[in-house]
Parts: sequence; structure tokens; C-alpha cells
Amino acid sequence: MMRDFVYYFFVLLCSSLTEGVDYTDTARYYYDYECNEPLVASSKLSATSSLRERGADNAKLYGLNAWTASESDFDQYLVIDLGSVKNVTRIATQGRAHSQEFVQEYRISYGSNGLDYARYKAAGGEVKMFEGNHDGNTVKKNEFEVPIIAQYIRINPMRWRDKISMRVELYGCDYVADTMFFNGSSLVKVDLLRDPISASRETIRFRFKTSTASGAMIYSRGTQGDYMAMQLRDNRLLLNIDLGSGTSTSLSVGSLLDDNIWHDVVMSRNRRDVVFSVDRVVVLGKIKGEFSRLNLNRAIYIGGVPNFQDGLVVNQNFTGCVENLYLNATNVIQELKLGYESGEPFKYQRVNTLYACPEPPIVPITFLKEGSYAKLRGYSGGNTLNISMEFRTYEKHGLLIHHEFKTQGYVKVYLEEGRVKVDLQTTSADLAPKVKLDNYAEEFNDGRWHALMLTMATDSLVLAVDNRPVKTTKKFRFLTGSTYYIAGEFV
Ligand SMILES: *[C@@H]1O[C@H](CO)[C@@H](O)[C@H](O)[C@H]1NC(C)=O
Ligand SMILES: *[C@@H]1O[C@H](CO)[C@@H](O)[C@H](O)[C@H]1NC(C)=O
Ligand SMILES: *[C@@H]1O[C@H](CO)[C@@H](O)[C@H](O)[C@H]1NC(C)=O
Ligand SMILES: *[C@@H]1O[C@H](CO)[C@@H](O)[C@H](O)[C@H]1NC(C)=O
Ligand SMILES: *[C@@H]1O[C@H](CO)[C@@H](O)[C@H](O)[C@H]1NC(C)=O
Repeated sequence: MMRDFVYYFFVLLCSSLTEGVDYTDTARYYYDYECNEPLVASSKLSATSSLRERGADNAKLYGLNAWTASESDFDQYLVIDLGSVKNVTRIATQGRAHSQEFVQEYRISYGSNGLDYARYKAAGGEVKMFEGNHDGNTVKKNEFEVPIIAQYIRINPMRWRDKISMRVELYGCDYVADTMFFNGSSLVKVDLLRDPISASRETIRFRFKTSTASGAMIYSRGTQGDYMAMQLRDNRLLLNIDLGSGTSTSLSVGSLLDDNIWHDVVMSRNRRDVVFSVDRVVVLGKIKGEFSRLNLNRAIYIGGVPNFQDGLVVNQNFTGCVENLYLNATNVIQELKLGYESGEPFKYQRVNTLYACPEPPIVPITFLKEGSYAKLRGYSGGNTLNISMEFRTYEKHGLLIHHEFKTQGYVKVYLEEGRVKVDLQTTSADLAPKVKLDNYAEEFNDGRWHALMLTMATDSLVLAVDNRPVKTTKKFRFLTGSTYYIAGEFV
């Protein structure tokens, strides 16, 4: 039988070759299926530093040249912007051809906006070190045990020969996202009355993103006392589970999860054994008691619960986004969408959810007393600056923004007699010690919201109030400092 099959396959292949049939389509099909398409050709490459003629654009696998950092230190990064969020499954690296310049070890971080990055960690929680090259030519491939879902991949060389030189390829495929937003008074109810669950194993997978430290994420309780409660508590993910013994088993994983970066969660249970992970960091647990089946016969709640119940320790719904939530093989958010569209929503009920992931809402801050202020950290050493905010007040006098440069001097935006004014002091010789700008005739302390944007670059300062920009051109230079004060003592 086996022989026949092999023979038949062989004949088919031959005939398609002899007839000159283009079989690249089939090859393509398998690539797509395996999620193994090269991604770098359609990406944007950048780097922290590079030698002339060896910029980041040269960092392509099998390229004639390579990216070479001009500095040889631990702060060098090659950043690959994939253009959109991808499912990245593998990486391949080379050094510079015919040379002793190559990277032996590197770290990877990834993100979805180019500003915030999460580090790729190993199962033990430590930052994973990837094995690189041992000469300039040979390709070294690494597979990600758990694929990276991200738009930006950042490679940070940690050990190298001669110089930091790299050529890279990433492999993967498009990422299809089914996303849902919960605002703290939202929830999805999956009705179990028709199809109760009595399972000895299940796997729950999803990604989430939040800027709120606590909230109920997945909850279900059966009439026999079994429950499963997955919740965010003080920045960590907590799983409380009881299979009917009356004793709760708690597993907790992750830290600082309210950073508004996507986190990948997997909970997999086989009888009393549980594997629970966030961003590949794994905890293993054994459920207490004699029982091994989870009996749920009422409802599963996602993103919130109607009331506080057994197993929950936070009395707050989840606020944030959940993506690609799978209960076993069921893509819940997708099924929910389809169910609603085909007019069969009876299994699901959703309250206040959105099929999207909006950026977190702007948080208004009230400064109750004169002298209250917010202190923000910013990028230090830049030669441009951009601050935007909205304010409203009835006060005639008050500081709005105060920023000390890394170089000598500062910029200050404030209200004086209700008018928006700017003080600028820089080191430049031909600038008077202090410049005072008073460009707007009207008063802004009318209790309404006003938009304010301050942008600065070498020799230029633009202040826009209510989208009316006024540009000041003077000779000056500055480098940004590390802190920004919003409001505060008027000095
Ligand atoms: C990413 O690709 C891998 C390999 O094909 C696949 O197993 C996985 O489900 C994909 N992940 C997502 C979130 O699409
Ligand atoms: C969570 O959301 C549900 C649905 O809107 C609501 O009934 C419940 O009161 C909320 N819980 C909390 C603690 O706000
Ligand atoms: C999940 O899959 C396992 C294994 O196929 C099965 O035994 C279990 O009943 C399923 N659980 C649910 C909740 O559907
Ligand atoms: C959540 O959204 C609903 C519907 O848009 C709204 O009525 C409710 O006030 C929102 N809750 C919060 C906490 O923002
Ligand atoms: C400054 O930031 C605002 C808000 O992000 C943006 O709309 C604006 O284009 C930026 N301006 C400059 C000059 O970068």
C-alpha cells in the first residue's frame, strides 16, 4: 500500500514537470500553510548606529553587504518594522560575508507601535539569549517555540566577533486578529444551559492589553461548586480553580501586566495538572482535591461578571482589549461575531463591548491646589520636542509646562492674566538671556477646554493654542532633558 502511494506521487510529480506546469503555486500554498514566508523584503530596517555604506538596509540574508554598527557596545539595535502585525515563527541570521564580523548571541524584543517593546523571555522568566553565528557566511536559524505576534522586531546583539555585523531574515505570515474591547462595565456571557461542560481537560488561549491593574477576565461556576476564575490582580494574572472539592487552587503568573502592551496567555489543564503561562513564562500547578473534571452548567463570563462570586478576589471588571480568545479550538470572538450576523445570538450575550481595540482614553488630571504638578519622564538628549495637552481653568495665573533642557536653559509655558505666554532660555550667544513670547491676545481662563501644542527644533519654536500655530524663529540650540513638569508652582 505504502509503496503504491509513493510510486503514484512520484509519477504525478514527474508528469507535472514534463508538462511544464508551474508548481510554484503549490509551493506557495505550503509556505502559507506553514506560516513560513520571508518577511524582511517588505519591511523597513533601521538601526541605532551604522558604518557608512553598511546601513540597516543591508541587513538582508544573503545580501552582498551587511549592517555593521559603528559602535561596538550592548546598546546597539537593529529594528525591523514589518509594516503590519505579523505572526513571526523563525529567524535566520548571518554575519558579513567573507569576514570575521558576526554576532554570536543576541536578544529580541518586539512591539506593536515602535515605542514600547516587550522582551522575548524563556520559559523560566529570564530574557532569552538566541544563538547567533560562528562565521560570516553560515546561516543560523532559530525557531520561536511560541511565535511572536508583533509589527516591530528589535534585535540586540550581546556577543560578537570583530564587529557587530548582521544579515537577517524573519519568517512568518499575516496575523488575523479578532479583537474585543471591554470598558469596565462590559462582559460577554456564553450560555451553557444547552451544552453544559464536563471536561477533564481544556485549553484557553488569548492575548490581552490593558492599562488597568485589576479586573475579572474569565469566570464560570457550576451548580456543583466547581469554578474557574481567571483575573488580573495588582498587575499579575491569577487563576483560581476548584473542581468541586471545596478548596481553591491558586496559580499566579506575570508582572507589570498593565503596561498597555499585548500579553499572550495560555492555560492548559489535563485532569489536575495545569500549565499556566503569560508571555511564555510558565508556572505548573496541581489542583487540590480528588476530582479531575470541571463541571460547568450555567455560563462562562468573559471580561466581566454580573456580580461578585466564589473564586473571585477582584471586584472589578476587566478594562482593555482581548484578542483571539480560544476555548479549546473555538475562536470565541469570531464565533460571537458570526452568531450575531447570522441572527443566532442565543448562545452569546454581549454587554457594552466593541469589536476593536481603541487606544486607551485620555485621562484628565485635576490639579486641585496651586503647586500640584505631574512629573513625566521623556527622551533625554533629543534636539526636537513635542508636547501636546488640553487644559481648562478659571485661574488667571498658572504654570502649564516646565521643561529644563539637558543643555543650559529651559522652556516654560504659563498663563498670566489668562493669556498664554512662553519663556525660553537657551545658551546660544545671540539670544537674549531670556525670551518672552506673548502671541495670543485673548484670555484662555474661561473654564473651557483648550488645546495646546508646543513643538521645538533647532532655531524654531511653534506654539499652537486651539490649533492656531504661531512660529518663532530665532537662533538657538538645545537638547531635551529627562523630565517634564505639567502644572506646578509658578516661579
Ligand atoms: C502563528 O503561526 C503558527 C504556525 O503556523 C500557528 O500555529 C499559530 O496558530 C499562528 N498564531 C496565530 C495567533 O495566528
Ligand atoms: C461588570 O459589568 C456588568 C455588566 O455591565 C455589570 O452588571 C457589573 O455591575 C459590573 N461589575 C462591576 C464590579 O462594576
Ligand atoms: C476541550 O477539549 C478536550 C480534548 O479534546 C475535551 O475533552 C474537552 O471536553 C473540551 N472542553 C470543552 C470545554 O469543550
Ligand atoms: C461602557 O460603555 C457603555 C456603552 O457605551 C457606557 O454606557 C458605559 O458608561 C461605559 N462604562 C465605562 C466605565 O466607561
Ligand atoms: C506633535 O504631536 C502631536 C500629537 O501626537 C502630533 O499630532 C503632531 O503632528 C506632532 N508635531 C510634530 C511637529 O511632530
